[in-house]
Order: sequence, then C-alpha cells, then structure tokens
Amino acid sequence: MGDAAIPVSIPVCNSGDIAEGGKGKRFAVSIHGADASGFVIRYGGQVYGYLNRCAHVPVELDWAEGEFFESSGLYLMCATHGAVYAPDTGRCEGGPCTGARLRKIEAFEKEGHIFWSPDDYVRPAPD
Ligand code: FES
Repeated sequence: MGDAAIPVSIPVCNSGDIAEGGKGKRFAVSIHGADASGFVIRYGGQVYGYLNRCAHVPVELDWAEGEFFESSGLYLMCATHGAVYAPDTGRCEGGPCTGARLRKIEAFEKEGHIFWSPDDYVRPAPD
C-alpha cells in the first residue's frame, strides 16, 4: 500500500562532509509518526548510520550539532551521561547502559554521496 512510496535511499550529504572520527551529519526521520533524527559518521573508512537516541534514556547523543565522537575519535559518546559506543557496532562499551546498542540505520556511500535507507521502524520524515 503506502509502502510503495517510501524511497529506498535518501541522500544525507556529500562524502567529503564527514571525516574519519570527525563531525557527523544528522538527518530527519520519523518514528511512529514522531520527529526524530538519525546520523551518519565515518570510522575505519566506513560510513555508519544510527538513530540519534541514547540506549540509556531516549535523548539525542550529540552535545553540539554533529558532534558524536568523544575527543579520541574512537567512540561515539552521549552528551547527557557519557555512555560511549563503539562506532562500528553501536554497542555501549561503558556507561549506564553497557552492552546495550544504538539502533542501526542502514547507510552507504555511492558516487561521492552518502545515503540512508528507511526500514520498518525508521521512516522518512514527512516533507
Ligand atoms: S542518556 Fe545517554 S548516557 Fe544516559
């Protein structure tokens, strides 16, 4: 039904906009009809996407727009209570929700651009 209208992939930014272990890019999503955000980061040369929501308390992770990595560039960090997450798996490696995971969002790079793919839970934000 309506699913046919959901695009397979949605552009986020140019490849050069996100550097290894550096600032990420947020994008708008919809979760059960509510506004939320996802983000993409680059780590180990790969692009990873996650829902911008701590596994501990459902707040956004970035302390300033796009700032997801802690200072070493090795972990993503929740600005609220400091949970740190492995950038490649989204697993919390330290903090109040150790072992919990960020919700992955399919993200990929193609021809100099980065895209994300909606799924059954993370839907495109309404126009
Ligand atoms: S809300 Fe993120 S560490 Fe607690």
